[in-house]
Amino acid sequence: MKDSNKQVQGYVASIPFDRRLYRQDIEGSIAHARMLARQEIIAESEAETIIEGLKSIQEEIEQGKFQFKTELEDIHMNIEAGLFEKIGDVAGKLHTARSRNDQIALDLRLFLREEISKTIDELRALQSSLVELAEANEAVIMPGYTHLQQAQPILLAHHLLAYFEMFQRDRERFHDCMKRADVLPLGSGALAGVPYPVDRELVARELDFSKVSTNSLDAVSDRDFVIEYEAAAAVTMMHLSRLAEELILWSSREFGFIEIGEAYTTGSSIMPQKKNPDVAELARGKTGRVYGNLMGILTTMKALPLAYNRDMQEDKEGLFDTVDTLHSSLEVFAGMIKTIKINTERIYQAMKTDYILATDLADYLVKKGLPFREAHGVVAKLAEYAMSKGKNFRELSLKEYHNFSPLFTDDVYAITLESSAAARSIPGGTSPRQVEKALSRAKRLIRE
Ligand code: ARG
Repeated sequence: MKDSNKQVQGYVASIPFDRRLYRQDIEGSIAHARMLARQEIIAESEAETIIEGLKSIQEEIEQGKFQFKTELEDIHMNIEAGLFEKIGDVAGKLHTARSRNDQIALDLRLFLREEISKTIDELRALQSSLVELAEANEAVIMPGYTHLQQAQPILLAHHLLAYFEMFQRDRERFHDCMKRADVLPLGSGALAGVPYPVDRELVARELDFSKVSTNSLDAVSDRDFVIEYEAAAAVTMMHLSRLAEELILWSSREFGFIEIGEAYTTGSSIMPQKKNPDVAELARGKTGRVYGNLMGILTTMKALPLAYNRDMQEDKEGLFDTVDTLHSSLEVFAGMIKTIKINTERIYQAMKTDYILATDLADYLVKKGLPFREAHGVVAKLAEYAMSKGKNFRELSLKEYHNFSPLFTDDVYAITLESSAAARSIPGGTSPRQVEKALSRAKRLIRE
C-alpha cells in the first residue's frame, strides 16, 4: 500500500478510540438482529447464528484476543468483519435496514445513558461526604466572606451545604440530559428511514429506550445529548473547581482552617515543610479541558448541513475525555472530603477581632428605632473609631458607644458570633435551627 493511503487510513480511522463502544455496538446489533427475525426480514436461524457470533466476538474482545484493524476504520466495521470471519456470509444480513449513521447514534446514546447514571451516583456520594463533614462540625461558626473579606458569621455547615445545593442542581441537569439521551435513533438508516417493515418500538423496548426518534434526518445528525452532557459536566467541574479553590485557600498556613488527608496531598521535592493540595489543584486545572471539550463539540456541530457528516466522528474523544475526567474528579473529591479535619481553633482565631459583627450592631440600632441607612452610618463611624484605637467592639465602654448613639445600652454586649448566626433564622438562613432543617432535607435528597 502506498504511504499516502496508509496516512489517510490513519487519519479517518476512529478505531483507536471508538473501540471503547464495542459493548454498546454489540448490544444494539443483537437487538436489531432479533427484531429483523421477528419481522421476518431475515430468518430466525440466521438471527441466532448472528447473535451467537456477536456474543463470541464480545468475549474475544474482553479477553483481549480480538484483532482490531485500522484499515477497517471503526468499531462497526471491525465487529462486522469479525462476524464474517466467524459465521461466514450470513454476517452480511445483520446490516439490513441499518446504516452506520443510525448505528453510531445508537451506540453513543447507550454509552451515555450508563455514564449519566454513574455520574448521578457519584454526585450523590460527593453530596454525602459534604453532609457528613457538615454534621460532624454542626456547631462550628466561621467567617462568611464576600469579596474574600470577612462579612458575617455563618455556620461552617451552612457553607458546606451551599456546595450540596450546587451538586443537587448538577444532578437535576444530568437527569434532564438523560431524557434527551433516552431516545432510540435506530430505524433512521442513513438519513431517510429504511424501506423494510422494521419494528422500532420493539427495539426500543428491548434496549429500554423510553422513546423512538421522530425525524430520521435529525436522529442521525443530532448530537445535542452529547453537548448537553458536556455542558452539564462543565458546570459540575466549575462547582468542583470553586470548592477546590476554597479547600486550597483554607488549607494554606495563612488560613489554617482545614487539613486535607495525607493521601490527597503531596510533599515538595525540595521544601520539606510542604503539604501541597495537588488533588484539589488538579480538579481546578482539569476544569479547563472539560470546558475545552464542550467548545470543541459545539464548534464541530455549528455549521453542519443535514444530515450525517464525517465531522461528527470528532464527537467521541472529547466526550470520552470529559466522562473520564468528571468521573475521576467526582470520585476523588468524595474521598478527599472524608479526610478533611476542621481546625476550629484557627477558625475562631480568625474572628477574634469582632468587626465581623458590624452588621449586627447596625441591626441592633434598627431594632431600637433607627432607620437602617442611619444605623449603617453610625456603625461605620464606630468601627472606624474602634479600629483606630485597636479595640474590638466588645472592648468599647458604654460611654464610648454613646459618643456615636444614645440608643446603645448594656445589651449591646450580648451580640456575639452565636447570637448573630442564630438571628438569621429565616428559611435558607444560617441559624443552627435552619441548618439542621437543611441537613435533614439534604439527607432526604441523597436518598432520592
Ligand atoms: N465512525 C463513524 C463515526 O463515528 C461512524 C459513522 C460513519 N458513517 C459513515 N457513513 N462513514 O461517526
